[in-house]
Amino acid sequence: MSRRPIRIAPSILSADFAALGAAITAAENGGADLIHVDVMDGHFVPNITIGPPVVKSIKRVARVPLDVHLMITDPDKYAEAFAAAGADMLSVHLEVLPHLHRTVAFIKSLGMKAGVVLNPSTPAAALEDIAGDVDFILVMSVNPGFGGQKFIPNSLHKVAAIRAMLDRAGNSAAAIEIDGGIDLTNIARAVEAGVEIVVAGSAIFNAPDASAATRALKNAAAAVAS
Ligand code: DX5
Ligand code: ZN
Repeated sequence: MSRRPIRIAPSILSADFAALGAAITAAENGGADLIHVDVMDGHFVPNITIGPPVVKSIKRVARVPLDVHLMITDPDKYAEAFAAAGADMLSVHLEVLPHLHRTVAFIKSLGMKAGVVLNPSTPAAALEDIAGDVDFILVMSVNPGFGGQKFIPNSLHKVAAIRAMLDRAGNSAAAIEIDGGIDLTNIARAVEAGVEIVVAGSAIFNAPDASAATRALKNAAAAVAS
């Protein structure tokens, strides 16, 4: 079976925030395809990270597109600010959005790729009526809020179900991204399940050499995909 190339999206959540430029360059030198930026508001998740001004600074140094993951209760209110800051992909949690169809259309109208994120306890079936409209789906394989948590294996069943759902909806172009606890021990299983965008934070930025760690994950994913 011929597959689309697997994209690696290093999450800067585990990088040194005082040296983000160097961390991003290291990941890019290792073959990063995207930079994953985790935005947390202290309400939807029990942690606070960064907002549009930092994304704007990151945009100045990054050579690859920015994949911004909003873990906030009111993404509609901030989507324009993230678009202006340079986000290329913007993902929003299904759990906070009563009018998800409108939000997805709004994100696209701002010129960004629109992604919908599911927490580990949110069933794949909740996506059924939005599957035809998304640019990508992000499956959380940990409970969002922190880097360095343990991978939840049940997430992979969800990936396979969502892949089938996207294809049924005529949206084979939409990719599935996975986020949380990914490392060299489980990346192959994720790719086999149908993941095409792999987020990795601690496996890259807690490693002694972020470039080498990115490269190793990319090679491990490519070995499955080829
Ligand atoms: C968790 C974030 C993740 C996190 C992943 O809430 O959404 O992107 O940085 O980190 P690891 O790869 O360490 O689980
Ligand atoms: Zn994330």
